Amino acid sequence: MDIKKKIAALSQELLHHQYLYYVKTVPEISDREYDRLFDELLDLEKQYPQYASENSPTKRVGSDLDNTFPEKEHTIPVLSLDKEYSGEGLEKWLAKTIKNAQQDLSFVVEEKIDGASIVLYYKKGRLDAALTRGSGIVGNDVTENIRTIKQIPLITAAETDFVVRGEIYIKKSDFENYNRKFENRYSNPRNLTAGSLRNIKSSTVAGVPLNILVYEGYFPAGFSNHHILILARLKELNFRINRRVGFFSDQKKILALTKEKLPEITGGAVAGLTAYVKERMKVRDELDYEIDGLVIKVNEIDVRESLGYTSHHPRWATAFKFDAPTAQTSVLDIQIQVGRNGRVTPVAILEPVKIAGSTVSRATLHNQEYIEMLELGIGDKVAISKRGDVIPAVEKVIEKNCENPTVFKFPGACPFCESALVKDGAHHFCKNRDCPEKLERALAYFVGKDRMDIDTLGEKTIDFLYKKGFVTSIPGIYKFNYDLLLQEEGFKEKKVENIKNSVEKSKSQPFSRVLTALGFDGLGKAAAADLIKNGFDSIDKITAAAARRNEEEFSGIEGFGETTALLIIEHFTDQRNLASIEELKQLGLNFAAETGEKQELPAVFADQVWVISGSFENFNPRSQAAEEIEKRGGKVTASVSSKTTHLLFGVSPGSKLEKARKVGGALIDEAKFLELID
Ligand code: IVH
Repeated sequence: MDIKKKIAALSQELLHHQYLYYVKTVPEISDREYDRLFDELLDLEKQYPQYASENSPTKRVGSDLDNTFPEKEHTIPVLSLDKEYSGEGLEKWLAKTIKNAQQDLSFVVEEKIDGASIVLYYKKGRLDAALTRGSGIVGNDVTENIRTIKQIPLITAAETDFVVRGEIYIKKSDFENYNRKFENRYSNPRNLTAGSLRNIKSSTVAGVPLNILVYEGYFPAGFSNHHILILARLKELNFRINRRVGFFSDQKKILALTKEKLPEITGGAVAGLTAYVKERMKVRDELDYEIDGLVIKVNEIDVRESLGYTSHHPRWATAFKFDAPTAQTSVLDIQIQVGRNGRVTPVAILEPVKIAGSTVSRATLHNQEYIEMLELGIGDKVAISKRGDVIPAVEKVIEKNCENPTVFKFPGACPFCESALVKDGAHHFCKNRDCPEKLERALAYFVGKDRMDIDTLGEKTIDFLYKKGFVTSIPGIYKFNYDLLLQEEGFKEKKVENIKNSVEKSKSQPFSRVLTALGFDGLGKAAAADLIKNGFDSIDKITAAAARRNEEEFSGIEGFGETTALLIIEHFTDQRNLASIEELKQLGLNFAAETGEKQELPAVFADQVWVISGSFENFNPRSQAAEEIEKRGGKVTASVSSKTTHLLFGVSPGSKLEKARKVGGALIDEAKFLELID
């Protein structure tokens, strides 16, 4: 046999075994035999790369090269679904649909899987491209990642071009395990799924047990007039379709044909549909994957076309949802914030909505990846949750903006100083140290509650002082003649007097607070306290050690890694920082600790068992938070149990939060924790 044919034959054989193993779950050969065939193909492809197909089963393991996700236009409109929340609403929808169709109809009831939507484009039967839903008009090309999902056929027996829509999801039982590999970044299985599809390394995606169920097929005209038979065809082509499908028709012939082709599905006369829907809604929790409702679809394709579409959803289908989400609102705008250290955070400005007793009008979107994972654009309708009843989060897009569906484009430059943004890990940074926004944020941080605590200088006043050019640097806070404010609108004598007093009073804040207030990266409250406790109890000792540039002097401190050590050296050898510190010293701030600051801490956490989850601004790595707890007599464990008394949660805390809530532990966010250890 020639090599080309041999490679093709081996590929086909392996793809068949992958299908038996991953879709049918009844393998016919042993794992060893499978590995032997796989290695043989791998060898041949290495020797003869010219014959290696991009749809080869060896591509399932992914690649270590960085992926990009170029935008591509969908060739079908990728619409969403209308929805009903009650049995009554559903009955009405059925009656209206039958009336508009002016004929008897059959219906298919499917589960609405809560994962990530995917559109698979096949050319002459072979997988050509896989796009995310995106705006519905344009999606991201995630083909390389999709190829790693072994339940998806790469080469099918079909000879034509066709399109398949489906949902990628991860099982509830797999979620915890795999989220750990992503540092518990994702708050639920859906977000882990959507995040994985956008992972830049397909080899990483190959390690996540992603599943697919397909639910719509678009074949060349005239293939079949029955959705149920399209599902049967997809199954024949080795796609994975849901066995929990109901088919309701009053036509005996099509019912019988369906029974024959898809024996696993249930159904009967149309009159039984509502009862079936109600029954299925009850078993939601028994499933090992998340569903957020059921989808009721007209079976007859020609009727679908005559019923037509709105710009948002087809008129021939509706989603029956479990419960109206507690908060649903619209994204009015997406703003870019730049923090004092340059970290760029996108924030969703929301149509104000009540949730868990308070009104939410903004929610962090974390970073570019989060926006892309949600495929979020301005004007979209979104579901909002309040994690741990504190931090509002945008969970998912419920409806794209009908008039102008987009996915928000992350800016390439800082909106405040126009310098190019630099990506470092998951976040973008503005690296311009003279960025006006960073300087203003640094001022606001300096005067904040846990730092110099100058409560008369709130956000608004700082903004005023800064924009007017009165106070443009930290020493400026102590140098400005506040009497000049008497000439400004809104500043009466009493107010100015209060400002002067509190600025003066802040000069007696202890060294630990001054050190934290300077706002250096890696030197949060806990780290500043650790430095002081470990003998660096004056600025002179710190700057002298930094000048020696001997990392070990700092990295030896428990909880300080090499990164923190290097950051400290960088901050305290920088001429501008040193000049500013010198100026503050002259202005009378405390740059040496009093003996009291080194004292042992009271055992306020005695008998408490804490679990820490998520990531934190002031405790990075998280072990720093653990230390703070342990130093105060508390115990820290890795997972939630009945013994857990407190959960300290940060950004993306994962399922521990829910578990802790169930066992009745106190839920403590970072701000609260800072207060507790103060
Ligand atoms: S049908 C025009 N069927 O729900 C066809 N969608 O809100 C519209 N989904 O983006 C989709 N399971 O990602 C359909 N059995 C199912 C589904 C399903 C999950 C998702 C899909 C879609 C969203 C619509």
